[in-house]
Amino acid sequence: MTTTESKDLGAEELRARAAEALTRARVRSVALTDAVDDEDLVRQHSKLMSPLVWDLAHIGSQEELWLVRDVGGREPLRPDIDDIYDAFQHSRADRPALPLLGPAEARSYVREVREKAFDVLERVPLEGRRLTEQAFAFGMVTQHEQQHDETMLATHQLRQGDPVLHAPEPPPARSGELPAEVLVPGGAFTMGTSAEPWALDNERPAHEIAVDAFWMDTTPVTSGAYAEFLDHGGYDDERWWSPAGWAYRTQNGITAPRFWKREQDGWWRTRFGVYERITAGEPVVHVSFFEAEAYAAWAGRRLPTEAEWEKAARFDPATGRSRRFPWGDEEPGVEHANLGQRHLRPAPAGAYPAGASPAGVHQLIGDVWEWTSTDLHGYPGFAAFPYQEYSEVFFGPEYKVLRGGSFGTDSAAIRGTFRNWDYPIRRQIFAGFRTARDAGPDEVG
Ligand code: AVJ
Ligand code: FE
Repeated sequence: MTTTESKDLGAEELRARAAEALTRARVRSVALTDAVDDEDLVRQHSKLMSPLVWDLAHIGSQEELWLVRDVGGREPLRPDIDDIYDAFQHSRADRPALPLLGPAEARSYVREVREKAFDVLERVPLEGRRLTEQAFAFGMVTQHEQQHDETMLATHQLRQGDPVLHAPEPPPARSGELPAEVLVPGGAFTMGTSAEPWALDNERPAHEIAVDAFWMDTTPVTSGAYAEFLDHGGYDDERWWSPAGWAYRTQNGITAPRFWKREQDGWWRTRFGVYERITAGEPVVHVSFFEAEAYAAWAGRRLPTEAEWEKAARFDPATGRSRRFPWGDEEPGVEHANLGQRHLRPAPAGAYPAGASPAGVHQLIGDVWEWTSTDLHGYPGFAAFPYQEYSEVFFGPEYKVLRGGSFGTDSAAIRGTFRNWDYPIRRQIFAGFRTARDAGPDEVG
């Protein structure tokens, strides 16, 4: 086989994978938007969210911008709507007032863009330009659509009305009794990546970073454990809260996780339109960074730093390498993690023994996003690509990093190096946390 042939085969394989990933994202976007009627599609279900019909056309607009116009060099389909779907021009709260494409128009717009994008994918050489190497732009656009699919799922969670989304239950706990925490050894490890083809700019480059030995919760903090914090008056005791957290909790009358309600017989919550008793064994979700931080202080612990989280998730002491995922380098399978909106809730702690990391930390990927104590920042050698607005403009103290993805995150949009971020007050996202503590001097691992 000549080199040219093997290169072509590689390109064909890349095209097939990109097409498959784009199609999977679109199946989900269509399901999330077809689940409600037109009135619900154009309604703003919360000031924190866009109308679903905005997300849909915005997905198409980004795809048009990057795949059709930039990579494909084609004529714009709808230059007139660029501004409406530019997330930086209009806040979510202001989007309903814009002259948005209606449901039928938005649907045919994204279909037309997709046809053109597939035509580009078939024809464009996957080399010679950083944007097309390894089909990066197609991977970036896939991840963008999947990120908005998770955002749309959060909009569904905020929506009032009868349930419209249904999914099978996640697997039960099957690990037996797990230790409460595990020791992660101290020393340098490789954080971030330079090799992962579809890694976004903020995950790059790979770099060595020293992390002292620490203890990490084996699983995310459960609703049952969190309810104890509530029942011990944790929300009324300023000692556990940072000054900013206490101000937030007081000014907003925060008394429990979002969607929770206390009844005579304990805590209940609404989930995708169903009112149900909380499940003690599943990771707590819909808490802000400030609530996570207060719980950790009450438990005599702290949130992990982002580097600690990534070391717990990726470092393999046997080889000294960092893995792509806690379980190894293979793509997530159904046995590894609760991802992809397969189950519309977190799985109980202990449900994914096959997904544990070498240190023995479970459920780092999937179930709930995990708050870390770290502000979003660029790694040493960071270079914005392909646009500053993807992450660089968010660097700084206002945003906290979240890791690991949730049940609402697709496998295309998560890996051991993936970084998410949000304001520390936000809790409509599928965010929970786990806690950590420093190891003693005789516990270096
Ligand atoms: C990385 C999840 C914070 O949803 O605002 C979507 C991803 N960027 N469109 C977000 C994103 C542009 C972003 N997060
Ligand atoms: Fe976007």
